[in-house]
Amino acid sequence: MLRGIYPGSFDPVTLGHVDIIKRASRIVDELIVGVLNNNAKMPLFSVEERVKMLKEVTKDIPNIKILPFEGLLIECAHQVDAKLVIRGLRAIPDFEYELQMSQTNHKLEPDIETIFLTTSLEYSYLSSSTVREVAAFGGDISQFVPKAVAIELMKKMESKGEY
Ligand code: PNS
Repeated sequence: MLRGIYPGSFDPVTLGHVDIIKRASRIVDELIVGVLNNNAKMPLFSVEERVKMLKEVTKDIPNIKILPFEGLLIECAHQVDAKLVIRGLRAIPDFEYELQMSQTNHKLEPDIETIFLTTSLEYSYLSSSTVREVAAFGGDISQFVPKAVAIELMKKMESKGEY
C-alpha cells in the first residue's frame, strides 16, 4: 500500500491544487492532503476553514484524507506512514524552492521521496496569493477556485471589510 502526502498552505485551495490532488490520487493508494497550521504565515483562512474547504472540494475522491499538521512535514509524513511527498511544479521559481525543500527533507528522512507533478497548462499561472489579491479588490475569482471556495472567499473579504 503506497501512501502519499501532498502538503501545502491551501490558503485557499485553488483549481490548480485540485488538479494536482486528482492526479496524485491516481498514483498512490491513499493520498493525505497535509494542511500546514502555521500562524506565523498569517493565513487568511484558519486551518479549520482550509480543511473544511478542502474536504468539500475533494468529497468525490475516495482515497483521500485531509489532515492539518504543524511542525516538520517529514514528521507528519512519518506519523501517517507516507513514503512519498507530492508537490506541484509551475515554473522555474518554484523549482529552486522545491529543490531546496525536497533535498532538505531527504537529508532529514532518506526513506521518504519527493515527486513533482507539473501543473496543467491552464493553471500554470495560478497561486493562492494571486487569488487572495484579486478577491481583496473585488475581482472575479470564479475561474481560479472551486465554487464553494469562491463563496467562502467573498464572505471572508466582506467580513474583513475589503470591499
Ligand atoms: O503551499 P505552500 O505554502 O507552498 O506549502 C509549503 C509547505 C507547507 C509544503 C512547507 O512550508 C512545509 O513543508 N512546511 C513545514 C515545515 C517543514 O517541514 N520545513 C522543512 C522543509 S525545508
